[in-house]
Amino acid sequence: MTLPERSQSYWIASTPETSYEALEGDLAVDVAVLGGGIVGVTAAYLLKQHGLRVALVEARRIVTGVTGHTTAKLTSLHGLKYSQIVSQFDRERARLYADANEGAIRFVAAVVQEQGIDCDLHRMPAFTYTREAGELDRIHAEVEAAREAGLEASFVTETTLPYEVAGAVRVENQAIFHPRKYLLGLARLVDGDGSRVFEHTTARDVREGRPCVVTTDHGRIRADHVIVATHYPFLDRGLYFARLEPMRSYALGIRVAEPPPQGMFISTGEDFQSVRPHPENGGWLVIVGGVQHMTGRSSVPTMQHYRAVEAFAREAFTVESIDYRWSTQDNRTIDGIPYVGTYTPASPHLFTATGFDGWGISNGTAAAMILADLILKRHNRWAAAYDPARVGQLTKVGQMLRYGASNVDHLVRDRISQAAPLEVSDLAPGEGRVGKVGGETLAVSRAADGTLHAVAPACAHQGCLVTWNEAEQSWDCPCHGSRYAADGTLLHGPATKGLERRPLVE
Ligand code: FES
Repeated sequence: MTLPERSQSYWIASTPETSYEALEGDLAVDVAVLGGGIVGVTAAYLLKQHGLRVALVEARRIVTGVTGHTTAKLTSLHGLKYSQIVSQFDRERARLYADANEGAIRFVAAVVQEQGIDCDLHRMPAFTYTREAGELDRIHAEVEAAREAGLEASFVTETTLPYEVAGAVRVENQAIFHPRKYLLGLARLVDGDGSRVFEHTTARDVREGRPCVVTTDHGRIRADHVIVATHYPFLDRGLYFARLEPMRSYALGIRVAEPPPQGMFISTGEDFQSVRPHPENGGWLVIVGGVQHMTGRSSVPTMQHYRAVEAFAREAFTVESIDYRWSTQDNRTIDGIPYVGTYTPASPHLFTATGFDGWGISNGTAAAMILADLILKRHNRWAAAYDPARVGQLTKVGQMLRYGASNVDHLVRDRISQAAPLEVSDLAPGEGRVGKVGGETLAVSRAADGTLHAVAPACAHQGCLVTWNEAEQSWDCPCHGSRYAADGTLLHGPATKGLERRPLVE
């Protein structure tokens, strides 16, 4: 009984593949929504419901990116977020954040009911817990901050976890669901009657104006408004590259002998542990998660992170099987609140949403509601709190520069000349390395079946040197989180094209 050989999200494995066509030629709509994750699909659904013609454009298949790799907790309790917001801002900001997330949960529940979408929605409480007595002050502070923010929060020492906790924040009436069943249901409601869903269509650029013009690899879209919902905003405007930190984390789908805990759980600290059950065929899958590191900057081979999650799962549960393993990525903002609104203060028709810090299911839904209201010119009480240009953002120059400076270390032009010679025959199956081959610096990997792939090592976004992610068999960029398959195919932006392939003979 070991870890599955290949990474595959349970959400993707348990739902059919979609087959929307690619864009062909030019098109005019009211709103172009770029990115088919929870923000894009929800925003497209809302705007169509209000009578607008929408084009939802996804570079690969919808809901296969970050939203397809979530742990899918529909909750307003986000670790120790309320204490963080109160210390960074004030109680009013924490109240708006809680209200937005509670509003998102109510929205999903209402849509599921109205549209009859079968997506395994179950109400259950959420917990932030600690096993360390020394952490209890932080738990008590979070209970107070969450209560003041309007959540039904309490301090508890009893949970349904199979191990003791020192204490926990408990928030009632949260929910679990199957994000792909939900969003594929919404996408079906988007496509048709003048609105369209396009897959395998990559947006390369947006020219702002009246109308805006989106250039894709399959044609152009004219639209009065454009939403960039590509997880990491791919247009280099608005200084997002300097104020987002892309982070990766890991999850396992396991079967256990004991009754699964009934709730969503996360422990405090950077080395967090996450647990939540999911109903399946009359039984339960338990999704356990943990570990966090910046994309492309793991200090150990990435399979070790899965093994750390596995060790936790085996310590906590009687594990019968490990059926799935998958990892995900999300962006952290400077102050802990997502950026949702106009792309820049000078972009009245271009919008974005990003920086959910691992809590993108509720925040992503709230973001779509905010963006739809902004486009429909309706008041939204959460919008100012999430505004990407909110007060204090652009003055955090120190942090921005610190992050920017750490990126410079990974820039390719400095390191490319220092690359060591690479003996391709030394590469083991599953291994990847950057090195000089025949005078040229290449990123070379060997697949499990022995196939060699060689690609240019400079990220297609801004040229940083990519690093090998053995667990996902991908090249990951340490600067802004772009990711590529072993053969150079683009997996994740902000890059909008893949790494160039290079010929290689062994
Ligand atoms: Fe920006 Fe790679 S993602 S340089």
